[in-house]
Amino acid sequence: MTDFQKQLEQYMLVIDEKLQYYIDSIEEKSIVSEAMQYSLMNSGKRIRPVLALAFCDMLGGDIQKALPFACAVEMIHTYSLIHDDLPCMDDDDLRRGKPSCHKQFGEAYALLAGDALLNLAFEIMFGRFEQIDAPLAMECGRILSSYAGIDGMIGGQTIDLESEEKQISLELLKKLQALKTGKLLTAPCKIGVLAAGGSKEDLTLAEQFGMDIGLQFQIVDDILDVTSTAEVLGKPIGSDAQNSKSTYVSLLGLEQSAQMAEQLKEKSLQQLAQYGDKAAFLKALVLELSRRKK
Ligand code: IPE
Ligand code: IPE
Ligand code: MG
Ligand code: MG
Ligand code: MG
Repeated sequence: MTDFQKQLEQYMLVIDEKLQYYIDSIEEKSIVSEAMQYSLMNSGKRIRPVLALAFCDMLGGDIQKALPFACAVEMIHTYSLIHDDLPCMDDDDLRRGKPSCHKQFGEAYALLAGDALLNLAFEIMFGRFEQIDAPLAMECGRILSSYAGIDGMIGGQTIDLESEEKQISLELLKKLQALKTGKLLTAPCKIGVLAAGGSKEDLTLAEQFGMDIGLQFQIVDDILDVTSTAEVLGKPIGSDAQNSKSTYVSLLGLEQSAQMAEQLKEKSLQQLAQYGDKAAFLKALVLELSRRKK
């Protein structure tokens, strides 16, 4: 196992333990808490919380300080996936290698499980479960509420729906992807910087880096929707074509999409260069994300 793999495994272990702790702390056990557990605790790649811990680590911070916020991001991401799969959205039956939340629990409970994960994320950030640094909570909460909201992920999902069955400009597609996916990958990068007490320059870099790998991440997601298999991906393939989505692949084709992803990868690596060896893990993560198969 490489140092990168060992570190990634370690981060994922810490994240999964903490996520399980939060789910176990739910007082009102019900079909909805069961659905939350079902959708959250599985084969998710945990890219977003890993980014938060890795940025914090790179800047010499204590990852325990970033961890609650990292978990909050993963909960908001998971809620977005539950809702994204609903029949009124992408209507997909498979997620993280299992029947989608609404397939397993029905639409109404899936809707509530998503809502409840969103609220739980904010309860965590406001310190329901542990002592939380108040100024840090304020900053992270401000970022996450905005980046997940109408000026972030929800705004992107809105453009995504409006862009079905039509040819949109490359500019609008970029905006769609930046909001839909870029923002929720950027939030944890900034959270990691804040938890480590990083500088304004670190924060600016985290913003740029997050938006670039966010875009790269979504381009690769669009490519995999065409080139992978449901078995490997853990979600249906061909979903975008079936819903007549506007994606990089539908607009530019596979080859040009791959080239764009490659350019963004190089740009992200360059941004990390100023941190030298301290950025070894993040550099390896960027490479891993560009050749990911799921
Ligand atoms: C899927 O995100 C949705 C996109 C924004 C492309 P991930 O590919 O990170 O999904 P999980 O968390 O590993 O299931
Ligand atoms: C959705 O993008 C991103 C979210 C905000 C949930 P996709 O619809 O392409 O994500 P997948 O492919 O279903 O994971
Ligand atoms: Mg979608
Ligand atoms: Mg989808
Ligand atoms: Mg997709």
